[in-house]
Amino acid sequence: MSEKPEILQLGNPLLYEKSKPVEAIQSREALSLMELLASVCSESRGVGLAAPQIGLSKRMFIVSSKPNARYPSAPYLESEVMINPVITARSDEMERGWEGCLSIPGIRGAVPRHAWINIDYYNKKGSFVSQRFNGFVARIIQHEYDHLDGLVYLDRIGNTRDIITEKEYYKIVFNSG
Ligand code: NI
Repeated sequence: MSEKPEILQLGNPLLYEKSKPVEAIQSREALSLMELLASVCSESRGVGLAAPQIGLSKRMFIVSSKPNARYPSAPYLESEVMINPVITARSDEMERGWEGCLSIPGIRGAVPRHAWINIDYYNKKGSFVSQRFNGFVARIIQHEYDHLDGLVYLDRIGNTRDIITEKEYYKIVFNSG
C-alpha cells in the first residue's frame, strides 16, 4: 500500500458500522492492514487504532500504549495487534477515566469502563491468545473493541459535562502531577 490512509472523523458513516471478521489472518491483505495500523497509530501518537477508523471494516485493532504528547501518563507496553477479538469476561467494577480518539480530535471524555476484561484474540503471528488486562490497557482495548461494533466513546458517556476540550484536559493532567 503506497498512500497513507486518512483517519475517518466523527460523522463518517463507516464509523458506525459493525465490522466483519478477518477471514485469513495471515493473508497478505491482513498483514498489510496490521502494518498500516501500526504506522498510522504511531505517526498520529495514538495509543490504539481500529481498522474501521482507516476505512476497513474488519475486526482488527492495535494497542500501543506508551507515554507520548497526547497521553503523557500512558504505561509502556509492547504493541499488540488483536485480530477477531472477543471479550469473554468483564469485571463488575467500573472505573472512570479520560479518553480521546483520533477520530474525534480536540476533545476528551471521562468514560466508565470495566476495571478488567478477559479477551481472546489472534495476534499478528496468527497465534491464539487468551489474556486478562486491567487499568489503562483494559480501557484502550474496550475503546478499540467498541470501534469494531460501530461505537465511539461518546456513546458511553451519560453526561455532556464529562466531555471537555483537549486544552482543558492538558490542564488537568499537568496540574495533577
Ligand atoms: Ni477511538
